Amino acid sequence: MQGRIRSAIIGAGFIGQVHARAVRAAGGEVAWISAASQGEADAAGERTFAQRATADWREALADPEVDVVHVCTPNHLHVEIAAAAIEAGKHVICEKPLAPDAGDAARLVEMAAEAGVVTAVPFVYRFYPTVRDARARVGRGDLGDVRLIHGSYLQDWLSRPGDGNWRVDPKQGGASRAFGDIGVHWCDLAEFVTGQRISRVAARSFAIDRPAGPSLTEDGATVMFETDGGVVGSVVISQVSPGRKNRLWLSVEGAEASAQFDQENPDSLWLGSRGANSVVIRGTEGTAPAAERYNIVPVGHPMGYQDCFTGFVGDVYAAVGGDQVDGLPTFADGHRAAVLTKAFMEAASTQDWIEVAG
Ligand SMILES: NC(=O)c1ccc[n+]([C@@H]2O[C@H](COP(=O)([O-])OP(=O)(O)OC[C@H]3O[C@@H](n4cnc5c(N)ncnc54)[C@H](O)[C@@H]3O)[C@@H](O)[C@H]2O)c1
Repeated sequence: MQGRIRSAIIGAGFIGQVHARAVRAAGGEVAWISAASQGEADAAGERTFAQRATADWREALADPEVDVVHVCTPNHLHVEIAAAAIEAGKHVICEKPLAPDAGDAARLVEMAAEAGVVTAVPFVYRFYPTVRDARARVGRGDLGDVRLIHGSYLQDWLSRPGDGNWRVDPKQGGASRAFGDIGVHWCDLAEFVTGQRISRVAARSFAIDRPAGPSLTEDGATVMFETDGGVVGSVVISQVSPGRKNRLWLSVEGAEASAQFDQENPDSLWLGSRGANSVVIRGTEGTAPAAERYNIVPVGHPMGYQDCFTGFVGDVYAAVGGDQVDGLPTFADGHRAAVLTKAFMEAASTQDWIEVAG
């Protein structure tokens, strides 16, 4: 790939702006930004230094100078925009959920493979150096045989009955909310760090009362699972847990040692053993070489969520340039999340153990 990569960002809300900052930090250009109205697009264009702003995303996709399309709209628009971007020959980053429906996600995987374009889904927590370090430690056997995987992903921003967002409407957000919105991040992270695949799930979900009646999608859930490696685990997911802002917490426990990652304290990896426990700070001696690529600033200068996105977009750009990048979450991972969501919903509604397809 010659010159700077030119990106079109479709959707200019919270995450569209995170993408825009990451594009610029990764050395790309924000060629277009698109939002639901021209006014919102123009305002976002000023904030993100986009070259053009439009309320018609098709206009951005028709620009032959655009290399990568970022789909950052509400969920129900992902499939249509991602499919159109592939048809236009663009590389595509599509926000999670890639598709609320697993069949649609599979179709996008096939379309992208036929077109030969790079795809990515921002399971962005993979891009913390401490997560890469934890993955390397599990992979080289430092923990011993993994016996237990557990954790939680808790938020509070929908905890009051009147709290609203398009995500609460199943027509825009999809049939699963807490699991489909944030549970999939936890599952992706757990599978990424451990190399185990969740093979069976059992689940209980709940919905709180809202002004128009109970939520139509789950506000929270407890999920038990087994993996293809014979490990058991559990995760608690909630968007109605007062005080918890974005508390993604993962613990992997092996025969010799444990490792814990806490998204709200992402520069540290907790390691437990029968002897002394330790806290490993990213970038210090002994951390895995695989983590180095994502250390954007030297140790002692805290890194965070936006930096993960820079690492993520940088890896997408490297893949567009022809590099084989380890650990890039692709549309196949987006499809995996849709399959897990389907199994979760079936488990929650039947109250049976459900096998995860694939
Ligand atoms: N990977 C992550 O960590 C992460 C974090 C937050 C959100 N997300 C995902 O990002 C997506 C957007 O979430 P958000 O929180 O930014 O939502 P948001 O409500 O803040 O923003 C949505 C944006 O989409 C725009 N939009 C709506 N219809 C459009 C259309 N027809 N054409 C162009 N733009 C349109 C809106 O104008 C708005 O700018 C969701 O799919 C969500 O799941 C991912």
